Amino acid sequence: MARFIAPSVLSADFARLGTDIEMINQSEADWFHVDIMDGRFVPNISFGFPVMEALKKHATKLLDVHLMIEEPLKYVDEFVEKGAGMLTVHWEADRHIHRTIQAIHKAGAKAGVAINPGTPVHILKDIIKDADMILLMSVNPGFGGQSFIENTYARLEELNALRNAQNPQCWIEIDGGVNDKNAPELVRLGADALVAGNYVFKAEDPQEAIKRIKAA
Ligand code: DX5
Ligand code: ZN
Repeated sequence: MARFIAPSVLSADFARLGTDIEMINQSEADWFHVDIMDGRFVPNISFGFPVMEALKKHATKLLDVHLMIEEPLKYVDEFVEKGAGMLTVHWEADRHIHRTIQAIHKAGAKAGVAINPGTPVHILKDIIKDADMILLMSVNPGFGGQSFIENTYARLEELNALRNAQNPQCWIEIDGGVNDKNAPELVRLGADALVAGNYVFKAEDPQEAIKRIKAA
Protein backbone atom coordinates (compact mmCIF):
# COMPACT_ATOMS: atom_id res chain seq x y z
CA MET A 1 0.00 0.00 0.00
CA ALA A 2 1.22 3.49 -0.84
CA ARG A 3 1.91 5.45 2.31
CA PHE A 4 0.91 8.86 0.98
CA ILE A 5 -1.25 9.77 -2.00
CA ALA A 6 -1.10 13.37 -3.09
CA PRO A 7 -3.61 14.42 -5.77
CA SER A 8 -2.24 17.33 -7.79
CA VAL A 9 -4.46 20.39 -7.60
CA LEU A 10 -3.05 21.48 -10.98
CA SER A 11 -5.52 19.10 -12.66
CA ALA A 12 -8.51 20.35 -10.64
CA ASP A 13 -11.30 22.44 -12.12
CA PHE A 14 -10.47 25.97 -10.92
CA ALA A 15 -14.00 27.15 -11.61
CA ARG A 16 -15.14 24.81 -8.85
CA LEU A 17 -12.05 24.54 -6.72
CA GLY A 18 -14.09 24.35 -3.51
CA THR A 19 -15.83 21.19 -4.71
CA ASP A 20 -12.54 19.57 -5.72
CA ILE A 21 -10.90 20.47 -2.40
CA GLU A 22 -13.84 18.95 -0.56
CA MET A 23 -13.60 15.80 -2.72
CA ILE A 24 -9.94 15.38 -1.64
CA ASN A 25 -10.82 16.14 2.00
CA GLN A 26 -13.38 13.33 1.92
CA SER A 27 -11.16 10.85 0.05
CA GLU A 28 -8.42 8.46 1.13
CA ALA A 29 -5.79 10.93 -0.11
CA ASP A 30 -3.17 11.98 2.44
CA TRP A 31 -1.86 15.28 1.08
CA PHE A 32 -2.72 18.02 -1.40
CA HIS A 33 0.04 18.36 -4.02
CA VAL A 34 0.34 22.01 -5.02
CA ASP A 35 2.36 22.81 -8.18
CA ILE A 36 3.76 26.33 -8.35
CA MET A 37 5.29 27.28 -11.74
CA ASP A 38 6.94 30.58 -12.61
CA GLY A 39 7.32 30.47 -16.41
CA ARG A 40 11.10 30.63 -16.00
CA PHE A 41 12.23 27.40 -14.39
CA VAL A 42 9.52 25.61 -16.37
CA PRO A 43 7.74 26.69 -19.57
CA ASN A 44 4.40 27.19 -17.85
CA ILE A 45 2.78 29.42 -15.23
CA SER A 46 0.30 27.85 -12.82
CA PHE A 47 -0.96 29.82 -9.83
CA GLY A 48 0.33 31.48 -6.70
CA PHE A 49 -0.56 32.87 -3.30
CA PRO A 50 -4.31 33.54 -3.73
CA VAL A 51 -4.88 29.86 -4.54
CA MET A 52 -2.63 28.87 -1.63
CA GLU A 53 -4.83 30.96 0.64
CA ALA A 54 -7.97 29.22 -0.59
CA LEU A 55 -6.33 25.85 0.00
CA LYS A 56 -5.14 26.82 3.45
CA LYS A 57 -8.65 27.84 4.40
CA HIS A 58 -10.45 24.73 3.12
CA ALA A 59 -8.01 21.81 2.89
CA THR A 60 -7.91 19.51 5.90
CA LYS A 61 -4.73 17.68 4.85
CA LEU A 62 -1.06 18.62 4.53
CA LEU A 63 -0.21 20.99 1.68
CA ASP A 64 2.68 19.40 -0.22
CA VAL A 65 3.95 22.39 -2.17
CA HIS A 66 6.20 21.73 -5.18
CA LEU A 67 8.03 24.90 -6.22
CA MET A 68 9.05 24.87 -9.88
CA ILE A 69 10.49 28.37 -9.62
CA GLU A 70 13.87 30.08 -9.82
CA GLU A 71 15.34 31.55 -6.64
CA PRO A 72 12.99 29.66 -4.33
CA LEU A 73 14.70 30.97 -1.18
CA LYS A 74 13.07 34.36 -1.74
CA TYR A 75 9.61 32.88 -1.27
CA VAL A 76 10.14 30.26 1.45
CA ASP A 77 8.69 32.24 4.34
CA GLU A 78 5.62 33.32 2.42
CA PHE A 79 4.77 29.79 1.23
CA VAL A 80 5.08 28.42 4.75
CA GLU A 81 2.97 31.29 6.06
CA LYS A 82 0.36 30.45 3.40
CA GLY A 83 0.14 26.89 4.67
CA ALA A 84 2.87 24.73 3.09
CA GLY A 85 3.51 21.81 5.46
CA MET A 86 6.04 20.29 3.04
CA LEU A 87 7.94 22.68 0.80
CA THR A 88 9.94 21.16 -2.06
CA VAL A 89 12.45 23.07 -4.16
CA HIS A 90 14.29 21.97 -7.29
CA TRP A 91 17.99 21.21 -6.99
CA GLU A 92 18.45 22.63 -10.52
CA ALA A 93 16.84 25.96 -9.60
CA ASP A 94 18.88 26.73 -6.53
CA ARG A 95 22.62 27.39 -6.18
CA HIS A 96 22.31 27.24 -2.40
CA ILE A 97 20.07 24.26 -1.77
CA HIS A 98 21.49 23.66 1.72
CA ARG A 99 20.71 27.22 2.79
CA THR A 100 17.19 26.91 1.40
CA ILE A 101 16.56 23.69 3.32
CA GLN A 102 17.70 25.43 6.50
CA ALA A 103 15.33 28.31 5.76
CA ILE A 104 12.39 25.94 5.21
CA HIS A 105 13.05 24.20 8.52
CA LYS A 106 13.45 27.53 10.28
CA ALA A 107 10.10 28.64 8.87
CA GLY A 108 8.55 25.51 10.39
CA ALA A 109 7.89 23.19 7.43
CA LYS A 110 9.33 19.93 6.18
CA ALA A 111 11.82 20.34 3.34
CA GLY A 112 11.89 18.44 0.07
CA VAL A 113 14.40 18.45 -2.79
CA ALA A 114 13.19 17.68 -6.33
CA ILE A 115 15.25 16.52 -9.29
CA ASN A 116 14.35 16.47 -12.99
CA PRO A 117 14.46 13.28 -15.09
CA GLY A 118 17.82 14.36 -16.58
CA THR A 119 19.56 15.09 -13.28
CA PRO A 120 21.74 12.27 -11.92
CA VAL A 121 20.49 10.78 -8.64
CA HIS A 122 23.97 10.72 -7.10
CA ILE A 123 24.13 14.52 -6.79
CA LEU A 124 21.79 14.07 -3.79
CA LYS A 125 24.54 12.34 -1.81
CA ASP A 126 25.49 15.36 0.29
CA ILE A 127 22.03 16.81 0.75
CA ILE A 128 19.81 13.81 1.45
CA LYS A 129 20.75 13.82 5.15
CA ASP A 130 19.18 17.25 5.52
CA ALA A 131 16.03 16.61 3.49
CA ASP A 132 12.72 15.23 4.72
CA MET A 133 11.76 14.13 1.22
CA ILE A 134 13.23 13.68 -2.25
CA LEU A 135 10.83 14.28 -5.12
CA LEU A 136 11.83 12.27 -8.16
CA MET A 137 10.26 13.72 -11.30
CA SER A 138 8.91 11.00 -13.57
CA VAL A 139 8.05 13.53 -16.32
CA ASN A 140 9.71 16.80 -17.28
CA PRO A 141 8.15 19.38 -14.98
CA GLY A 142 5.77 21.98 -16.34
CA PHE A 143 2.54 20.21 -17.28
CA GLY A 144 0.06 17.68 -15.99
CA GLY A 145 -1.09 14.76 -18.11
CA GLN A 146 2.29 13.66 -19.56
CA SER A 147 3.41 10.05 -19.92
CA PHE A 148 5.49 8.38 -17.25
CA ILE A 149 9.21 8.04 -18.14
CA GLU A 150 10.18 4.37 -17.80
CA ASN A 151 13.76 5.11 -16.71
CA THR A 152 12.24 6.32 -13.42
CA TYR A 153 12.23 2.74 -12.11
CA ALA A 154 16.03 2.47 -12.38
CA ARG A 155 16.46 5.93 -10.87
CA LEU A 156 14.14 5.04 -7.99
CA GLU A 157 16.16 1.91 -7.22
CA GLU A 158 19.32 3.99 -7.05
CA LEU A 159 17.63 6.63 -4.89
CA ASN A 160 16.15 4.02 -2.56
CA ALA A 161 19.62 2.56 -1.95
CA LEU A 162 21.06 6.03 -1.30
CA ARG A 163 18.20 6.88 1.05
CA ASN A 164 18.54 3.62 3.00
CA ALA A 165 22.27 4.20 3.39
CA GLN A 166 22.21 7.90 4.28
CA ASN A 167 18.84 8.83 5.73
CA PRO A 168 16.25 6.05 6.10
CA GLN A 169 13.75 8.58 7.51
CA CYS A 170 13.70 10.55 4.26
CA TRP A 171 10.61 9.96 2.11
CA ILE A 172 10.64 9.46 -1.64
CA GLU A 173 7.87 11.00 -3.74
CA ILE A 174 7.23 10.21 -7.40
CA ASP A 175 5.62 12.92 -9.51
CA GLY A 176 4.31 12.70 -13.08
CA GLY A 177 2.27 10.20 -15.04
CA VAL A 178 1.45 8.03 -12.02
CA ASN A 179 -1.49 5.68 -12.48
CA ASP A 180 -2.84 2.36 -11.18
CA LYS A 181 -0.57 0.46 -13.62
CA ASN A 182 2.80 1.86 -12.47
CA ALA A 183 1.92 2.58 -8.82
CA PRO A 184 2.47 -0.99 -7.48
CA GLU A 185 5.98 -1.20 -8.94
CA LEU A 186 6.84 2.28 -7.63
CA VAL A 187 5.78 1.30 -4.12
CA ARG A 188 7.69 -1.97 -4.39
CA LEU A 189 10.86 -0.08 -5.36
CA GLY A 190 10.63 2.24 -2.34
CA ALA A 191 8.30 5.14 -3.15
CA ASP A 192 6.54 6.53 -0.07
CA ALA A 193 4.42 9.20 -1.74
CA LEU A 194 2.72 9.19 -5.12
CA VAL A 195 1.45 12.34 -6.82
CA ALA A 196 -1.43 11.91 -9.26
CA GLY A 197 -3.05 14.66 -11.27
CA ASN A 198 -4.75 13.53 -14.43
CA TYR A 199 -5.29 9.99 -13.23
CA VAL A 200 -7.42 11.31 -10.36
CA PHE A 201 -9.18 14.30 -11.87
CA LYS A 202 -9.97 12.79 -15.27
CA ALA A 203 -11.40 9.66 -13.67
CA GLU A 204 -15.13 9.13 -13.69
CA ASP A 205 -14.97 8.62 -9.95
CA PRO A 206 -11.94 10.51 -8.54
CA GLN A 207 -12.34 9.10 -5.03
CA GLU A 208 -12.28 5.56 -6.43
CA ALA A 209 -9.18 6.43 -8.46
CA ILE A 210 -7.48 7.65 -5.27
CA LYS A 211 -8.47 4.43 -3.52
CA ARG A 212 -7.00 2.36 -6.38
CA ILE A 213 -3.55 3.95 -6.26
CA LYS A 214 -3.57 4.02 -2.46
CA ALA A 215 -4.08 0.25 -2.54
CA ALA A 216 -1.04 -0.18 -4.83
C1 DX5 B 1 4.31 18.40 -13.33
C2 DX5 B 1 3.79 18.52 -11.92
C3 DX5 B 1 3.01 17.35 -11.50
C4 DX5 B 1 1.74 17.13 -12.28
C5 DX5 B 1 1.33 15.72 -12.15
O1 DX5 B 1 5.15 19.46 -13.59
O2 DX5 B 1 4.87 18.66 -11.01
O3 DX5 B 1 2.72 17.40 -10.11
O4 DX5 B 1 0.71 17.97 -11.87
O5 DX5 B 1 0.25 15.50 -13.00
P1 DX5 B 1 0.01 14.10 -13.75
O6 DX5 B 1 -0.23 13.09 -12.67
O7 DX5 B 1 -1.17 14.38 -14.60
O8 DX5 B 1 1.27 13.79 -14.52
ZN1 ZN C 1 4.42 18.38 -8.82
